[in-house]
Amino acid sequence: MAFLGDSDAASDGSRQFPQHQAALTILQDIAANPQHSKARWLDLGCGRGQILHHLSHNLDSESRAKIHYCGIDVNHLHVRETERVAQGLELAGQEVRVAELHDAVMMLKEPSRFDFITLTNTTHELAPRALASTLIASVCLLSESGRFFAYDMERLPTPELGAVAWRAEEIRRILECVCRSLDAPEFKAACSRWQHQSCTSWSIQLNKRYVATTNSPSEQMIENATAVALVTMASIIQAKLEEVQGILEAITLGHQGETLDEEEERSRLLYDYWSLSRALELVQ
Ligand SMILES: C[S@@+](CC[C@H](N)C(=O)[O-])C[C@H]1O[C@@H](n2cnc3c(N)ncnc32)[C@H](O)[C@@H]1O
Repeated sequence: MAFLGDSDAASDGSRQFPQHQAALTILQDIAANPQHSKARWLDLGCGRGQILHHLSHNLDSESRAKIHYCGIDVNHLHVRETERVAQGLELAGQEVRVAELHDAVMMLKEPSRFDFITLTNTTHELAPRALASTLIASVCLLSESGRFFAYDMERLPTPELGAVAWRAEEIRRILECVCRSLDAPEFKAACSRWQHQSCTSWSIQLNKRYVATTNSPSEQMIENATAVALVTMASIIQAKLEEVQGILEAITLGHQGETLDEEEERSRLLYDYWSLSRALELVQ
C-alpha cells in the first residue's frame, strides 16, 4: 500500500490549529537565531500547506526571509496547493515534492540537513514501513541544532479507513527504539498529551543538541533500526488489536439493543479492527 485512500487533509483557512501554532513557535525560535542566516525546514506529509496558511501573520518578514521550506507529500494535488500557499510568503526558498514517505530514508543520500522537521497529523495515515522510514529519516536528517516536532491524534474525530491512531506512549516507544538502534540511547523523547474538545492528541519533540546521533548512519544501522521499529510496531499493533477484539466480543455477548452512542462506538471499533488487522499484515 502506498498511502491511505481515506486520507483527510482537512484545511480550514479561517482558523489556526494548536498543533500548527506549536510547530511555528519552535520555528520562530529557530529563525530568530542570529548565528544562522538561514533556517532549513522539512515538512513531511505537508498536505495542502495547512501549517503555512497563516505564516505571513505568524512570522515577521525578516524571519520568513531566512526560511527554506521543503514540503513532501504523496498527493500531487496537495503538493500543488502547498506550492501556491508557499509562493506568497516571501521565503528564502521553497521546494515542494511529490514523494512517498516509505522512501524517506533515501533522503539520507542527499547532503541536505534540516534545522526543523515537522510531521503533523500524518502518522495515522502511514503504513508501518513508511512510519519507520519517516522516523529514522527525521532523526538522521536533523542539522547539529535541528529540531523535530511530530503531532497526531490518539483517536480520530471521524474514523478513516485504514488509519492507525497511535497513542503517545506507543509513539514514544517506537521513536526511542529507533534512536537506540541509531546509537543515540541517551535520547529520551519529550512527549506530551493534549486534551481537545473533539480528541486527545500527542506531540513529541527531539532536539538534536541533546543527541549524539551520527549524521551518516551506515546502511546496516538503518536496516537494524527499521527492523527494530517494525518489531516494536508489530507488538503494539497486536496488543491494540487484542484490546479492540476484547471490547467487540463483550459488546457482541451483551448485545441488547444500542443507544446511538453505542452504535457509533461499535462502528468505530470495526474501523479500528480492520485497520489494525491490515497494519499487522503489512508489518510482518
Ligand atoms: C491529514 S494530512 C496532514 C497535512 C498537514 N501536515 C497538517 O498538519 O494538516 C496527511 C497528509 O499526509 C500525506 N500522506 C499520507 N501518506 C503518505 C505517504 N505514505 N507518503 C507521503 N505523504 C503521505 C497525505 O497525502 C496528506 O496530505
